[in-house]
Amino acid sequence: MTLTPDFYSYPQTELASAELDGDWVQLGWPDGLTLRAHRFWLTENTPGRGFDRTSRESIIDPSAIADQSRLSFADVSKDGSLHLTWVDGEQAMLHPGWLRHVADGKHRPGSYLPTRQQWDTSVISEPPTTNGSRVLEDSAVMYHWLSDLARYGVARMTQTPTDRSFVKNLAAKIGPLRSTNFGSTFTVEAKVERDSTAYTGLNLGQHTDLPTRETPPGFQFLHCVENTVAGGWSRMTDGEAIVAELIEHHPEAYAALTDLHWIFFNRSPDCDHRWSGPMIDHGGPDQPLTLRAFYPVRAFPDMAEGDIPRAYAAMKVFSDLAHDDRFQMRFPFTPGDIVGFDNRRVLHGRDAFAPSEGSRVLRGMYIDQDEVYSTLRVLGRSLA
Ligand code: OGA
Ligand code: ZN
Repeated sequence: MTLTPDFYSYPQTELASAELDGDWVQLGWPDGLTLRAHRFWLTENTPGRGFDRTSRESIIDPSAIADQSRLSFADVSKDGSLHLTWVDGEQAMLHPGWLRHVADGKHRPGSYLPTRQQWDTSVISEPPTTNGSRVLEDSAVMYHWLSDLARYGVARMTQTPTDRSFVKNLAAKIGPLRSTNFGSTFTVEAKVERDSTAYTGLNLGQHTDLPTRETPPGFQFLHCVENTVAGGWSRMTDGEAIVAELIEHHPEAYAALTDLHWIFFNRSPDCDHRWSGPMIDHGGPDQPLTLRAFYPVRAFPDMAEGDIPRAYAAMKVFSDLAHDDRFQMRFPFTPGDIVGFDNRRVLHGRDAFAPSEGSRVLRGMYIDQDEVYSTLRVLGRSLA
């Protein structure tokens, strides 16, 4: 079997044709799909000549590219692979299934991940739920839960162990923690000495955590280890649905939320993180949405004076929608529940509770999107 420049297995989707056309090779499959591949790129992806057989990484520094010899011939081998011959006489095969996955666009960052599904409360009225009692032992449970998380931006596991170290044990299976000034993991409970409004029994309006950062943490996980209070229900809203609603029905608010910048600033005796950005940040093409919405740390308008009134008006439209029952789900926390959510896409909040009534203890952590998506792709590969 021809080695591919990765660790996936591909079906032998045999080529129908391969024609050399100057610096290009024109490939075709029996169903009519084509791929036009440059000789440098083909050379980079040739076992041994272009990539290291062990690491599967490219070994050609760009300064050597000009010296890469030309192809003298390209054709389809008996088993349907691409057969290349260079003018220096070397010959090699390229796997047709690997070439086909590029022609199919399956090499893109979004592939091997579930398609994101936008939701309001008519689509899901509580987080998609998986029994998590065996998540640390059974990678199929992890895969199922993380798939829901990637698809909807929110997913829950129930019946997980209620020890305070569970989040760390879970993180060991997903990927490196994203540490912040609240620590590598943190505990959300009402405290007298507090460095955040989160550590009270107050209502927390729909928000995203840590917009004070250039890249706010990707996924957040809240694990309920104790809960004897009646209130304190959790609330989630899909920011993608809010963005779609704004585009359709409130274009002026949408424009203000995407164009006008705010400076987010955490006021702490020990640290001073600041970042300026719009509340709805689409990033570049092919990049995921980032919402920046947390009034406790939204500190200064970073816009022309004349824009400030419409910035506040737009923010109110955004926040009203985020709290509307059409978009916002509400659900209680039971000990053993862990809720994961995409902190850049999904807004979260909580109802007020009375700390005098008992205890409500959540253990929290952040893990960036890169880590969650990498684990999901690798689990999918190993379970396939
Ligand atoms: C937070 C937070 C949610 C909760 O700590 O930022 O949103 O349910 N907490 O207490
Ligand atoms: Zn929060």
